[in-house]
Amino acid sequence: MLEIDFSQSPTALAPLAGFTDLPFRYICKKFGVDLTFSEMISVNALIRDSKKTFHMLKRAANENTYMIQIVGSDTDSIVKAIEILNDMEGIIGIDLNCGCPVPKVVAQDSGSSLLKDLSRLSQIVETIKKYSNKRYTSVKTRIGFNEKTPEIIAKTIENAGADFISIHGRTRSGAYKAQIDYDAIRQAKEAVKIPIFANGDITTYERAKIVKEFTKCDGLMIGRGAIGNPWIFYQLKHNQNSVDKSFIKSIVLEHLQLMSEFYGEKMGVILFRKHLHAYSKSLSEAAAFRHKVNTIIGTNEMREEIEKFFI
Ligand SMILES: Cc1cc2nc3c(=O)[nH]c(=O)nc-3n(C[C@H](O)[C@H](O)[C@H](O)COP(=O)(O)O)c2cc1C
Repeated sequence: MLEIDFSQSPTALAPLAGFTDLPFRYICKKFGVDLTFSEMISVNALIRDSKKTFHMLKRAANENTYMIQIVGSDTDSIVKAIEILNDMEGIIGIDLNCGCPVPKVVAQDSGSSLLKDLSRLSQIVETIKKYSNKRYTSVKTRIGFNEKTPEIIAKTIENAGADFISIHGRTRSGAYKAQIDYDAIRQAKEAVKIPIFANGDITTYERAKIVKEFTKCDGLMIGRGAIGNPWIFYQLKHNQNSVDKSFIKSIVLEHLQLMSEFYGEKMGVILFRKHLHAYSKSLSEAAAFRHKVNTIIGTNEMREEIEKFFI
């Protein structure tokens, strides 16, 4: 297992439930992303030992800096979940979700709801730090629940003992569409000494450069900007604003194969459709292609359509 080298402007793939599963993380690692996170894992599901949860936690062969993100708020349950994760190898840290805006999660005082109760947030971070045997304890947060209080949130997390923070520059009320506030991320960065990943709407190499420069953050975290575009991590690592995409067909085929292996053929193909939509976006005849692949459930048939569509 490696350490995160914060002196080298590391990149991270943001956790995206329903997208950043083992196959997609594998693909992003191939393009050089430094840090990967599991999709958010409910502490309660983990304790209940659900088979699906353990499947979701599996690490790809090339993931040498992989963190598990947990979502929860009850410290006793969190301790039990950590004890389970302590027995799992190949994980460099535990990340606490303090950003999820979904009403069901907020109603359980978890996710972004923790931003309304900073003493609880603090207690949870201290608990993870105390019980986890992993190298890193981190927090992924927004800049507030309704009001923007980035400095207070960042200081609270730092004082509780976290090793780094990833900050999505929106409040919970801002959901995923409000104007991203990189200034708030910059304020959080100035308020603490621990490293910060800036996150939100980084979709191009050019935008990444601007965000890095403006926020002065240690690293950049990219979520939706990597869907259908995992080579963005290669661009950032190699300082290239354009990339020769002649490899796209082979990557799409490899991604499909990994999906079939991980989920089983039918489910893998169905779940792959959304990635395929993203890979084909902006190519000519993409709408007709999307329409066609939406009815396909077999790997071979899907492979044939990909072979025909991508040059
Ligand atoms: C479909 C979807 C699923 C997400 N799932 C998670 C999650 O499991 N854990 C988390 O901390 N954030 C989650 N997020 C938030 C992202 O990690 C990220 O903070 C947000 O999308 C902004 O970054 P981006 O513009 O680079 O995508 C999710 C966002 C989306 C759109």
